Parts: sequence; C-alpha cells; structure tokens
Amino acid sequence: MKTIVVLTGAGMSAESGIRTFRDHNGLWHNYRVEDVATPEAWERNPELVLDFYNERRKQVVEANPNAGHKALVQLEKRYRVKIITQNVDDLHERAGSSQVYHLHGEIRKSRSTKDPGLIFPIEGWELKWGDRCPLGSQLRPHIVWFGEAVPAFEGATQIVKEADVLIIIGTSLSVYPAASLLYYADASIPKYYIDPQATPVNDVRNLKVIQKKAGEGVPLLMEELLGE
Ligand code: APR
Repeated sequence: MKTIVVLTGAGMSAESGIRTFRDHNGLWHNYRVEDVATPEAWERNPELVLDFYNERRKQVVEANPNAGHKALVQLEKRYRVKIITQNVDDLHERAGSSQVYHLHGEIRKSRSTKDPGLIFPIEGWELKWGDRCPLGSQLRPHIVWFGEAVPAFEGATQIVKEADVLIIIGTSLSVYPAASLLYYADASIPKYYIDPQATPVNDVRNLKVIQKKAGEGVPLLMEELLGE
C-alpha cells in the first residue's frame, strides 16, 4: 500500500471559519507574536496569553471539519495516509483522519509548567490562571511557541522521507523548521501544493501547483488519486 504524506497549514482550516496568520485580517495582523506566542510573553503576562488561546480555542470548539478535511479521510481507503499539520486545531482528527502529527502542539490540550510530559485535555474552551497540574504548577497551553524547540520535527522528517506522494495544503511555507519538510521528500515522487497563493518552490521537483482553496482543490485531487 502506498503512503501519502500531507503537510497542512492554517489554510486547511480557513473554510471552517478559523483565522489564518498572515492573510489579510490574519491573527498576526491583530496581535504581536511577542505579546502572545513566546515564552517571554508567558513570563511577562500569562493572562494575556491565556486569553489569546482561549479566544482561538472557542473558535476551534465551535468549528467543524470542512470538505478538505473530509476528502483526506477518503484517501485512507486506498493509501496509508499520514498527516503532518502545523495547525493546533483537532479538525483532522474530528473529520476521521487516523494518523495526525502536530508539529506546533494542540490547542485543546494543556501541559504542566513543571513537567512538560504531563499533558491534559482541556474540557470546553477555557484554561484559566490558577488551573494547576497535579504537581501544583500552573497549566499552560500545549503549544510550541516561537523560540521553543519543535520536538515532533525529527519524526516528521522520517515520515516525509518515506512518502510515495507528498501533498502540501494551505500553508505559506514561511515558518521553519516546518517549511523545510518538503525538502526531505524524495525528489522523484509526485508532489502537490494546494493553496490559492501557491507558487512553484525553488529546487523542488515534480511539484504540481493547484491554486485553489482546500475545500475545492483537495476533493478534486482525491478524485484523481482514487481514480488511478
Ligand atoms: N484553502 C487553502 N489555503 C488557504 C485558504 C483556503 N481556503 N485560505 C488561505 N489559504 C492559504 C494562504 O494563501 C496562505 O498560504 O493558507 C496559507 C496561510 O498561511 P499562514 O497564515 O502563514 O499560515 P501557516 O503557513 O499555517 O503558518 C505557519 O506560523 O504563526 C505560525 O505556528 C503558526 O503554524 C503556524 C505557522
């Protein structure tokens, strides 16, 4: 059975009503990264950071998987599908994808600030100042902040190396190390880049650019791959 590896970004969830980061009116046009998404921000004003993620988590809880998420699940009828996502929402899982790897964490989980191995589901949408782990430390969002290590990256490179097909969906490819993943794919395998602003990527061979939204482009590509 062939393995299809999918690398998704914020554009994958845009049609589910979840804001991207760098589009017009994106999150980083309304917040400064250094105020809400760095360890220093957490030290300086943890309640502002908690509010930022609570607001986004509320959107995620109220959102639903879109046609793009659902089309990827159909692929599993014929292929082994591994999704590596930069997104912190759980829409791939809620659509039914069985193998999802989060590079930048998961917004519906919290973790101990004393032991990062202690991770907990967040019931509902709020994580509050004073919510503590069993060790008594304040719980923080289970998110990889700018300047923090990306523990899942090493495993993700191995997954991409073994891909027979690579599909990139809804990402500006502007944040590293995530954006470097496509260079770990074998040069000879077919690659697809679905994004309204997708353009060819320097020295990446066999890349087909599909300038469409995920909700339209992903089902079309799935038909092609399932029709083979
Ligand atoms: N369908 C597909 N792609 C879309 C759609 C859509 N409906 N709407 C927007 N896009 C595309 C945009 O064209 C853009 O290329 O989604 C991409 C969003 O880019 P970013 O906002 O930069 O999001 P992303 O690439 O996921 O950012 C990577 O940056 O801030 C960090 O940790 C954060 O994981 C995030 C990382």
